[in-house]
Amino acid sequence: MKIGIDSIAFSTSKYVLKLSTLAAKRGVDYAKYCVGIGQTEMSVFPPNEDIVTIAVDAAEKAIAKVEDKNAIDMVIFASESSFDLSKAAGIYVHHFLGLSDNCRIFDLKQACYSVTAALQMAKSYVACNPNSKVLIIGSDVVKYSKNTSGEPTQGGAAVAMVVSKNPRIAEFEPYSGVYSTEIMDFWRPIYATEAIFDGKLSAHNYLKSMDICFERYLSSSKLSAQDIDYSCFHSPFCKMARKAGRQLFPNKNIDNSLAYNELIGNSCSASLYICFISLLDNTPEDMSGKRVGMFSYGSGSVAEYFSLIICNGYADMLTANANREMLSNRAEISFEEYELFRNNQTLKNKVYENVGKVTLTGIINDKREYVVR
Ligand code: CAA
Repeated sequence: MKIGIDSIAFSTSKYVLKLSTLAAKRGVDYAKYCVGIGQTEMSVFPPNEDIVTIAVDAAEKAIAKVEDKNAIDMVIFASESSFDLSKAAGIYVHHFLGLSDNCRIFDLKQACYSVTAALQMAKSYVACNPNSKVLIIGSDVVKYSKNTSGEPTQGGAAVAMVVSKNPRIAEFEPYSGVYSTEIMDFWRPIYATEAIFDGKLSAHNYLKSMDICFERYLSSSKLSAQDIDYSCFHSPFCKMARKAGRQLFPNKNIDNSLAYNELIGNSCSASLYICFISLLDNTPEDMSGKRVGMFSYGSGSVAEYFSLIICNGYADMLTANANREMLSNRAEISFEEYELFRNNQTLKNKVYENVGKVTLTGIINDKREYVVR
């Protein structure tokens, strides 16, 4: 039985900060951001948007082409920027989507790796329950402290995928290379709203983990590097993915996979899968039957290299123009607004729109209150 990704979509903020604006305010040469780090813009989020509101928008798009929505009997929400240590954020999303209550819903956490863990779980689940569909969401709003080396790599987005038998976009291959090790390269204690990191250590461990995973993948699959037609790498900032690409495949160009992340910034759990959407949307040739190598890295750390085979007819499932418009239609905000957003404030007398139908209106009696437009 073929199992894989049947539909996929992403969503991000309606607002963007140009990194040329940040560079000027921080007294940094803009070339460091656009060339050295490989980022030109970052999505920034007004206080009425959170990991749930963008997730609802991404998931609505992902399930739009799924005929039997009642077959979705598992929702897995992956995030490292969640706001609740008990209640699953996926329960809000499931509610706003109006999915069947005959459904298991839970959150997963392991830094930027957790969507990959969710895909592996979904693959096994559908193998045992062939008529079931699993909705997987990765949603993160990424914040580092002001004036740190991580600040220009902030961002955020949500990705949503439906995993099922007879997929229409990509089929899972059975091989994986995995590597886990305990390391303090990036973490967020429960009392902190911003991630703490050792940037150089994390970049070093990312590349080391990738080499080990790739070797294990090749050994278990009996494939060689030449058998990988296209590549996607977790992209905390695009230069990291480019370094990874050069290390594994000196001559391969991965620009098509990075077109969206360069404009969004780091979206942690969603990042690798936005690379995948970007690759599908921006590759001009027919990718049917081709193998895409995927490298997933979550600090702390867990890493995995696996592969997907693109399905015939996948192009009918893409929404490339809408994705490009979503990014190009974002409204540019000023540095002052960026600083206000960081403090959960906005300019007075200005209304900030949500990307989707759900708005976070406040937290009253410790309860998050959302309204549907
Ligand atoms: N023009 C062009 N390039 C310039 C430049 C200029 N004026 N000034 C500097 N550069 C280049 C540097 O030469 C360097 O290039 P190389 O990497 O090719 O050597 C690059 O810009 C970065 O400059 P620095 O080495 O000075 O690095 P930095 O102190 O600014 O920090 C960083 C960079 C470590 C990535 C930082 O952004 C960071 O800490 N980010 C957060 C952590 C992170 O993203 N880690 C990635 C792996 S962990 C992970 O993947 C999980 C996750 O999602 C976070």
